Amino acid sequence: MRILSGIQPSGALHLGNYFGMMRPAIELQEKGEAFYFIADYHSMTSLTDPVARRKNTLDVALDFLACGLDPKKSVFFKQSDVPEVTELSWLLSTVTPMGLLERAHSYKDKTAKGISPSHALFAYPVLMAADILIYDSNVVPVGRDQKQHVEMTRDIAIKFNEAYGQTFVIPEPQIRDEVAVVPGIDGQKMSKSYGNTIEIFGDEKVIRKKIMGIVMDSRQPAEPKPDADKNLAVQLLKLVAPAEVGNDFENRLRAGGLGYGDLKKALFENYWNYFADARKKRAELAANLDYVNGVLVDGANKARSLAQKVLKRARINCGLE
Ligand code: ADP
Ligand code: TRP
Repeated sequence: MRILSGIQPSGALHLGNYFGMMRPAIELQEKGEAFYFIADYHSMTSLTDPVARRKNTLDVALDFLACGLDPKKSVFFKQSDVPEVTELSWLLSTVTPMGLLERAHSYKDKTAKGISPSHALFAYPVLMAADILIYDSNVVPVGRDQKQHVEMTRDIAIKFNEAYGQTFVIPEPQIRDEVAVVPGIDGQKMSKSYGNTIEIFGDEKVIRKKIMGIVMDSRQPAEPKPDADKNLAVQLLKLVAPAEVGNDFENRLRAGGLGYGDLKKALFENYWNYFADARKKRAELAANLDYVNGVLVDGANKARSLAQKVLKRARINCGLE
């Protein structure tokens, strides 16, 4: 089984990225042949600062390796180190109906948020399809917001196979229901673009302040709260705390007697402990950038040789060779 996923270097990674995509991806590296990449070509649809792109790309590499991506088990690389995907993206675009792209939620959401509607933003799902199909991927672990993109990939692959004969493996999205949408500190989906994130490797003071600033309702501590499971701090606590601790806080909130301040303090402490080992590892990696860059070069070499084989198959099937 081949597993593949990517993440854009468009800002500091947060708990939504971690629980929705990175942790499932890291767990899957034990279960098959995993390919994970930093989607730097894709980041060009929303980020135009080259210095920021370089910095974010390195940050994503450090974050992923610190969180447990093991380069002995997974192939880890930068998307643009395999330029073959851009050629495949062209081949795929010739069988991609306009109507399919016009239905993409992410295009509508991004333009509604003010990102300028470039051709690349519109064609984003075609490049993503190329990313997935060029490695004969079977499984794509992502958060729920990427489900439609993987479904579009399936449609595009089926269309190409119909037009030119069996060429591509049809991939499946893999979405963990329990973390499909991690809420941000304002209760909406946690996202870089909503400014509501808790970063995985945030500064201690900044994150403490963000967590203590989560707005709650005005019910008194003594009041029982039958809706404790819907409380944002409880939901986040359950992600970062051992199950007994999360359940205990939820029960105490439900029964009455637990103040929101104490709940938020527990959330901060458990968050801080949850990533303690990864934080140490990240500092070590940051002091050894030659190693980190070597991992990416090595990964690119492996990814590229597979990509070249699959691209050749596609080129032959459509009569370019
Ligand atoms: P953002 O919304 O912050 O820009 P991305 O779109 O770069 O995040 O998402 C990268 C990966 O992380 C995707 O697989 C996405 O599904 C996942 N992800 C992002 N935010 C969340 C969230 N709040 N809950 C679950 N998964 C998420
Ligand atoms: N679109 C994904 C995101 O914004 C990133 C991505 C690019 C990706 N190519 C991919 C994810 C291929 C999975 C597979 O998060």
